[in-house]
Amino acid sequence: MNESVDIFGNKASFIRPSLTARNKGKTLFDDYDGFVGKFEAKKTTDDCYTPAEVYNVVLNYVSEKCNIKGAEIVRPFFPGGDYENCDYPEGCVVVDNPPFSIISKIAKFYIENNIKFFLFAPHLTLFSPRMDYTRIVVGASIVYENGANVKTSFISNLFEDIIVMSDPDLYRKLERINEAKNVNLPKYVYPNEVLTVSAVQWCVERGVSCLLKKRDVYHVRGLDSQKTHKKAIFGSGYLLSEKAAAEKAAAEKAAAEKDNIIIWELSERERNIIKSLGK
Ligand SMILES: C[S@@+](CC[C@H](N)C(=O)[O-])C[C@H]1O[C@@H](n2cnc3c(N)ncnc32)[C@H](O)[C@@H]1O
Repeated sequence: MNESVDIFGNKASFIRPSLTARNKGKTLFDDYDGFVGKFEAKKTTDDCYTPAEVYNVVLNYVSEKCNIKGAEIVRPFFPGGDYENCDYPEGCVVVDNPPFSIISKIAKFYIENNIKFFLFAPHLTLFSPRMDYTRIVVGASIVYENGANVKTSFISNLFEDIIVMSDPDLYRKLERINEAKNVNLPKYVYPNEVLTVSAVQWCVERGVSCLLKKRDVYHVRGLDSQKTHKKAIFGSGYLLSEKAAAEKAAAEKAAAEKDNIIIWELSERERNIIKSLGK
């Protein structure tokens, strides 16, 4: 067991499978972040690792709303973990982000084994399982360590017979973390001759369609100017012929008009003035 004391003075542990379990012989890890970091970034919700600041907000909420003073906080979900074969300390509370694909099975196991839990849960299917636990509707957009932005709510058996509750305060606190991250993220703006899937999507959302022929495009994973920064176009893109770039600009102009954005253009006369400048 890897132990520490959480920010609220509770003992916090990442628990490993018990030695009698089928995972006997698995290497124990000392550094959770380092351990998790060894795994290639995947985008499935089962591989969404929780940023520390998000986890702390959630743990703070559980500490404030539920009587967990002195209870050991455990996190049994990590790569190679085996939550069914862990030694759960008496009176512990599982506060963790589990693999969403088996969340109902996990909740059933904890209810049957009388283990207290407060788990991250997929927001959109929160009401789907017909199970006896509390759904805490939050629906905050959490950006996990792998970059995936997942609407997240919670499930718990710490709230006795409440089936559904919501918490605007928890929502705001989690959204604030998300907003702070977005503010600091650099925004990439590409030249008009570059087509990204987001640019096409932006037009589609505004009812403007795009059509490009094979002869007018050249597939690229990133621009030369990005290489030195070890960056690339997210999802790759295309370099466009002059004709296709002009069509793209026209599509974007039409799409912008739907948002009541007016893009003013230069006249031939003004272009000639510009050409003559700086000589
Ligand atoms: C959504 S991730 C969250 C990881 C971590 N709890 C966090 O909050 O960052 C779920 C993790 O559970 C692990 N996992 C999958 N099946 C498991 C099982 N049966 N027992 C324990 N962990 C499991 C996955 O490998 C993955 O690392």
